[in-house]
Amino acid sequence: MTKTAAQDRYDRMARSYDARWRVFSNVVYGWVLKHWPQTLAKNAHIVDLGCGTGAFLKRLAADHSDYKLTGLDAAEAMLETARNAVPKGTFIQADFNRAQAEKLPKADLYLCLNVLHHMMRPDLFVAQISQHCAENTPVFICHFAPKGLLMKIAGLYWSISDISYYRMVKPREFKKILREHDFEIVEKAILKPNYFWRLQIYSLRKTSN
Ligand SMILES: C[S@@+](CC[C@H](N)C(=O)[O-])C[C@H]1O[C@@H](n2cnc3c(N)ncnc32)[C@H](O)[C@@H]1O
Repeated sequence: MTKTAAQDRYDRMARSYDARWRVFSNVVYGWVLKHWPQTLAKNAHIVDLGCGTGAFLKRLAADHSDYKLTGLDAAEAMLETARNAVPKGTFIQADFNRAQAEKLPKADLYLCLNVLHHMMRPDLFVAQISQHCAENTPVFICHFAPKGLLMKIAGLYWSISDISYYRMVKPREFKKILREHDFEIVEKAILKPNYFWRLQIYSLRKTSN
């Protein structure tokens, strides 16, 4: 099958991804770990949507050897890197733009870190996650924030230069999507990994199902 633009982009980036994005990822992963729910079972199932190279799951595996870890991603080369990084994990190829809801496993916690700008329909993607969540399931979502002049200009540039990029979701729009799909915001923050990047990150909880 022909590769999508995102598959092509990340297949080519897989080898260099971790080194290139280390500082950026450390800020995001650090926030998630700081807000990690303390009530999860020892053998909880953690599902990372758009897991990339498995870098976050690798960190979890080091501290929580009993967690069951699953990563889904569109790009086969990213998944291959993840399989090497987290041998005990399960890694599944899935394209969230093709509404492959049947590939989403049930989980005790979902992560979706910096994937939303590749979604044609962020609302449908959040709906898919919501459908799989039992009441009280924790979900972490981080997305590029259209905050500040540099991020806004970058968004315009990406929309003409990178066909795997769709758009940044505005905070108000995203809050509406979360409400419509029964997610309550437990914590949120704007992360600033450097002078340029602005990321909106949420710790969420599913309120009903
Ligand atoms: C910016 S990277 C983030 C990786 C990882 N979540 C992290 O924080 O290190 C975006 C990831 O989303 C994946 N991706 C992009 N579009 C996708 C789609 N339509 N379905 C599934 N995964 C997708 C890419 O292959 C890539 O691994």
